[in-house]
Amino acid sequence: MQQLFPTIVQSPSAMKSLGMKVSKHLQAGDIVALIGDLGAGKTHLTQGIAEGLGRTDSITSPTFSLVNEYPECRPELIHFDWYRLDTPEELLSIGWEDYLERDAILVVEWPDRFPEMVPAGSHCLHIEHLESGRSITYQRA
Ligand SMILES: Nc1ncnc2c1ncn2[C@@H]1O[C@H](COP(=O)(O)OP(=O)(O)OP(=O)(O)O)[C@@H](O)[C@H]1O
Ligand SMILES: [Mg+2]
Repeated sequence: MQQLFPTIVQSPSAMKSLGMKVSKHLQAGDIVALIGDLGAGKTHLTQGIAEGLGRTDSITSPTFSLVNEYPECRPELIHFDWYRLDTPEELLSIGWEDYLERDAILVVEWPDRFPEMVPAGSHCLHIEHLESGRSITYQRA
């Protein structure tokens, strides 16, 4: 995974392509934490991961639903957005600990809302706005 980074991505479609490449390095039980400001491209990257895992339709941001599950992906993909959560207790109440036990890949937008809830070993991708495009770096939690 880390050999894909650091990288610069110039377009939304290239963001999806990067997500597809990332997906090839993932296995069940992996957690991907996508850290970046509003509009950084977290959902586009997740779209590519979903496509790489077998999803054919487009995905939508779970900003309002908090979590979207894609059982047709192999491994299963579960996509979270913590932006609208106010406390770690709310995250626990939607079943975070149960999700961690699932044989699935978990992708989290806005993990920096509750860094203490991101397990050690998670794949952290930091996305930063450039004048044109985005810079993306990798760090293992
Ligand atoms: N690498 C890129 N270069 C230029 N524009 C991009 C890139 N990636 C995404 N975008 C554009 O940025 C906008 C936001 O993308 P996206 O919804 O994926 O961001 P997000 O990080 O999920 O936002 P939010 O914080 O609201 O969830 C879209 O208009 C998308 O087309
Ligand atoms: Mg998003």
